[in-house]
Amino acid sequence: MESHHHHLQYLLVLVVVTATIFMIPTSTFAQLTPDYYDKLCPEALPIINSVVKEAIACERRMGASLLRLHFHDCFVNGCDGSVLLDDTPFFLGEKTALPNLNSIRGFEVVDEIKAAVDKACKGAVVSCADILAVAARDSVAILGGPKHWYQVLLGRRDARYASRDAANVNLPPPFFNLPQLLASFQSHGLDLKDLVVLSGGHTIGLSKCSSFRDRIFNDTNIGPEFAATLRESCPRIGEDTNLSPLDATPSNFDTTYYKALLYKKGLLHSDQELFKGAGSESDRLVELYSNDPYAFARDFGVSMVKMGNIKPLTGYIGEIRCNCRTVNY
Ligand code: HEM
Repeated sequence: MESHHHHLQYLLVLVVVTATIFMIPTSTFAQLTPDYYDKLCPEALPIINSVVKEAIACERRMGASLLRLHFHDCFVNGCDGSVLLDDTPFFLGEKTALPNLNSIRGFEVVDEIKAAVDKACKGAVVSCADILAVAARDSVAILGGPKHWYQVLLGRRDARYASRDAANVNLPPPFFNLPQLLASFQSHGLDLKDLVVLSGGHTIGLSKCSSFRDRIFNDTNIGPEFAATLRESCPRIGEDTNLSPLDATPSNFDTTYYKALLYKKGLLHSDQELFKGAGSESDRLVELYSNDPYAFARDFGVSMVKMGNIKPLTGYIGEIRCNCRTVNY
C-alpha cells in the first residue's frame, strides 16, 4: 500500500516535469494567431486599414509598394521588420542591398501607421513586422476588391538586427530562370504553387527600366511589338529609372498579369519564366489563374499566409519597436 502511494507520487512528479518541459518551447515558438490584437488593442487593425486606404487614395502605386515591403521583409531573416531598419554603426541595413536600393518605398506610410497605432494603443503594442503583414493584405484587398481579403496571422515581434548581405543573397533577382526562382522559394519553405501565385503580386505596381532592359533587348520569348514599345522609354543606354507598369492594369489587383504571360507579355524575365507554353506544371498554374479570378484570390491568400509565417519572432525573442526605422535603446 505504502509503495503504491510512492509510485503515484513519482508518476505525478513525472507528469508535471514533462508538462513543464513541453511548455517552455510552446511560449518560445508561439504560433501566430488571427486574433492577437483583439484584446491588446482592438483599434489596431481598423487604424492600419484607414491609413492604408488614405495613402492609396493619394497614390494607387502605394498599395503595390506596401505589398512588396512585406515580401522583402519575409524573405530576409523571416518576417521580422528588418527591412525597415536604417543603417547603424553596428550593421548595414537591407535598404541599400541591390534589390532594394532606390526601389523599395512606402516607409513614410509605415511611419504614419506606427504613430497612429501607438497613439491608439497607448504605447508600442503592434510590431512593425505585423504592420507590414496587415498593410500588404489591406492593400491587395483595396486594389482588388473583397474577394482578395484573407485572414492575416499576427503576433510577430521585431528584429534588433538587419543584414545587407542577407538581403543580397535571399531576394531573387529578375534575371533568374524558373529553376533558380523555385530554388529561392524552396529555401524559404515555399513551393511552385506559392511561386506562381505570389508572383501574381506583379499584377500591381511599376518597374524600373534597368530591371527589364535585358529582357526587351535579348529575350526571345517576348512579343515583338510589346518589346518594341518598351524600348521607346527604355533604351539600351540611359533612362535607367524610367518606369513601366508590371502589367497593363497596374492599379488593379486582377488576373491581367497572367493573361499577359500567355501572350509573352510579361515585363520581367522572371515573370515570363513562369509560362513558356510547353505544358509544364508552372504553365498549367498560369493558365488556371489567367481565367479563374476566384482561384487566384483564394490561392494568393493561402500563400500570403504561408509567406507571412516565415521565421517570425515570437514570445520573448525580439521586441516591439517604438520607431520602425531603429531598434529600441
Ligand atoms: C518571384 C520572384 C520575384 C522577383 C524576381 C521580383 C522582382 C521584382 C522587380 C525587379 C521589381 C521592380 C523593382 C524596380 O524596378 O524598382 C518588382 C516589383 C514589385 N514586386 Fe516583385 N519580384 C518577385 C516576387 C514578388 C512577390 C512574391 C511579390 C509579392 C507578393 C512581389 C511584389 C512586387 C510588387 C507589388 C512590385 C511593384 C512595387 C512598386 O510599384 O513599388 N514581387 N519585383
